[in-house]
Parts: sequence; C-alpha cells; structure tokens
Amino acid sequence: ATSRPLLAGNWKMNGTRASLSEIAALRDAVAAGRTRGADVLICPPFTLVMAAADLCAGTGLMIGGQDCDAHPAGASTGDVSAEMLRDAGAGAVIVGHSERRAHRGDTDAVVRAKAEAAGRAGLMAILCVGETRAEHDRGETLRVIGRQIDDSVPPSASAAGLALAYEPVWAIGTGVVPSADDIATVHAFMRRRLRSLLGAEGGGVRLLYGGSVKPDNAAEVLAVEHVDGVLVGGASLKEAEFLAIAEAR
Ligand code: G3H
Repeated sequence: ATSRPLLAGNWKMNGTRASLSEIAALRDAVAAGRTRGADVLICPPFTLVMAAADLCAGTGLMIGGQDCDAHPAGASTGDVSAEMLRDAGAGAVIVGHSERRAHRGDTDAVVRAKAEAAGRAGLMAILCVGETRAEHDRGETLRVIGRQIDDSVPPSASAAGLALAYEPVWAIGTGVVPSADDIATVHAFMRRRLRSLLGAEGGGVRLLYGGSVKPDNAAEVLAVEHVDGVLVGGASLKEAEFLAIAEAR
C-alpha cells in the first residue's frame, strides 16, 4: 500500500434524493481533512450523479458512475455513455462489476470496450475482476483473474486512468473476507500481470480490494501489500460508516 490510496464507494441500486445529504456530509469531512489525503470517490445511481457532482464540484470528493455504455451516443434505450457521465460531472466509472458480468451480459470484451470508452471520455475506470465461489473452491482463482485482466484491461490504459479492483464474488455482501495472505497473493499476481500487459504504466495502476469491507476490517485490508485502496458497497451508503473506513488506515 504505497501510492495515494483510493477509497471508492459503490451505492449500487440504492439512494434517492434524500441520500444527497450523506454525500454532502462526506464532502465536508473530506474538506476537513478527515480522509487524510486519500482520493475519495462515491458512485451513486445514475439518477443522482449530476446532483451529487454539482454538490461536490471543486471539492476533494469525486463522483462516478457504476457502469457506462461503450458508445458515445445512439439508439440504445436505457443506457448512459461515458461521455454523458463526464458531462454530468463524473470523474470515474465502475466497469465490469461482477453483478453486471453475471446478470447483464458484460463479457470481458464488453468490459474492455467500456473501459476504453471511459478513457476516451477522460474518466478513470474502476475495472472489477474476481472469481466465483465455485472457481475459488476449484483452485482457479489466479487463472480466472489472469484471463479477466488479459481480456478486459485495454492495452492503452494509463496508470492514472485505471484502477483494478479485486472483488471475489463470494465476498460481496456476505460478510466473508479472504485472509490477508490470500488478498496479498492475488494483488501481487495482478501487479505482475498488469506490468506484463501495460509495462511501466502497469506498475502505477492502483489495486483495490472489494467485498465486505467494513470499519472493523478496513485497517487490516488496507495494510496488505499491494492494496492501494478499497471498493466498498453496503458500508459506503452512510457517511459515518464510510468515513470510519477512511479513518481506519
Ligand atoms: O462494489 C462493491 C462490492 O461489490 C462490495 O460490496 O461491500 O457490500 O460487500 P459489499
């Protein structure tokens, strides 16, 4: 955990207009220095992106989307492009979350196209990889993650434009977190793989861990070698809980 850490919150399909007060409170905590120099990002649902970005414009709290289409515009009912997110004030977008890979047909090729679109639009891509419980139990973790990295990370990705999040599917929303040793093994592997794919840029891409990160385990997770930040789901919804994670390091 050497580079400037990135603490990212993914609200998933949660949050209404009333939840903007959580974002305003977090913005103020960041401004007061309570997140101690970390980069802090919240990804609310599309409906709140523009209002949240307006609340946080010019502050240290970045707002992002949870997904984007690969195309800039067009006949694609229900979708939102990276360019539209950028226009709304977003600075980042999550791509390849396992919930989209599993339920919305996001293959590695689709995820790569979305990550490329993010780069084109000037957004940082938070690209997610991770094995299922069955793959884990079969000992296939590194094989699966290697394939996901090779096939979904754009060869043109830069260190500043990409963060790679390791999210074991079996750790998401379950309260189960891999051991520090297991996270370290996967993150060291991701670092090597990114270096061989991207060269020197791959050495600077931040590596996040995601899956049941809470205030009581955040310090341990953030202390693991090669862990440069966290991607937090449930515990990012309330400002106090997310701030406790930020303050744990
Ligand atoms: O993107 C966030 C992850 O899926 C983690 O979710 O913190 O609720 O387990 P969780």
